[in-house]
Amino acid sequence: MYENLDELRQEALQCKNCGLHAGRHNVVFGTGRPDAKIMLIGEGPGENEDLQGEPFVGRSGQLMDKMLEYAGFSRKTNVYIANMVKCRPPQNRDPAPDEITACLPWLRGQVSILRPAIIVCVGRIAATSLIQKDFKVTKQHGQFIQRGSTLMMGTFHPAALLRNPASKPAAMEDLLALAAKARELGILP
Ligand code: URA
Repeated sequence: MYENLDELRQEALQCKNCGLHAGRHNVVFGTGRPDAKIMLIGEGPGENEDLQGEPFVGRSGQLMDKMLEYAGFSRKTNVYIANMVKCRPPQNRDPAPDEITACLPWLRGQVSILRPAIIVCVGRIAATSLIQKDFKVTKQHGQFIQRGSTLMMGTFHPAALLRNPASKPAAMEDLLALAAKARELGILP
């Protein structure tokens, strides 16, 4: 068992559990507050993330940061952000099921160290992997689902919002519902 996120990260930096390690510039482990009670989980690093070693730093990440900020959240103050897979899939293709499985121990480690009260699955890949196999983001976004001591919620991926801005208001509602829930739980002032 790992004591803290830094120890887990050091180990993850050496990972060769799947073929994605061969093409990576960086393992994109995760970022944000180590004491966050809210964790956001995306799909996998894109080009910018691979080059910088940090999740959601490209165009879609900038949109996500802006929306999070509006709802009272930021990676600097109160959330932790990670991905299903820590290495970039070539040409930004979806991570394959065996790659997700190979990477799962790192995500499990992050969740067991952080013990988040709420996990937000950002996009289809995270929601179908972690909430429900046939999760439909367009229909089920914004709903809180209790799993043990953790609340789970699925929402739109910011890349999908860039392709389809008509979904932005619904995505913003999800984050405002997240803020309301966080206040209810005493996580947000
Ligand atoms: N998309 C994701 O799902 N994760 C990132 O880190 C960047 C883009």
